[in-house]
Amino acid sequence: MDSEKILSSIDGLLNQQKSVDETLQQICKTLHAEVSHYDWVGFYMLDKTQQILVLGQYVGKPTEHIEIEVGKGVCGQVAEKASTMIVQDVSKMDNYIACSLDVQSEIVVPILKNGKFVAEIDIDSHAFAPFTQRDEDLLETIASKISYLF
Ligand code: SME
Repeated sequence: MDSEKILSSIDGLLNQQKSVDETLQQICKTLHAEVSHYDWVGFYMLDKTQQILVLGQYVGKPTEHIEIEVGKGVCGQVAEKASTMIVQDVSKMDNYIACSLDVQSEIVVPILKNGKFVAEIDIDSHAFAPFTQRDEDLLETIASKISYLF
């Protein structure tokens, strides 16, 4: 995983000033292609009621979890706490929403705008305990770079 290369690709993408949807889709594609343990990469956005997360752009297997209540699953907990969660072994997690039996671990990073939670980057992995501080640093840097898009 080459964080500098990924960040420079994302800077390049942001400079192209494509539509928000296209930009988010390209970010999913870049992360999925560049990091071997990122098997599903997607965005969930907080809706107007502030109670529901709605699936946005993603790369990976289609999921039936198009909407997730705040507080439910890893995604919903991150929306509530507005801080990153890493689950190295999803089988040990009680408040977890399974998307696929292949998924063993997950990282969810909040996107904050003016200090308020607006969306999140959700990544599932088929590997067991693959996430390190490097993943957290990379994804939090991306979250802060793209916050203006929301
Ligand atoms: N596993 C997530 C649900 C979303 S899927 O990973 C795409 C959760 O527990 O919130």
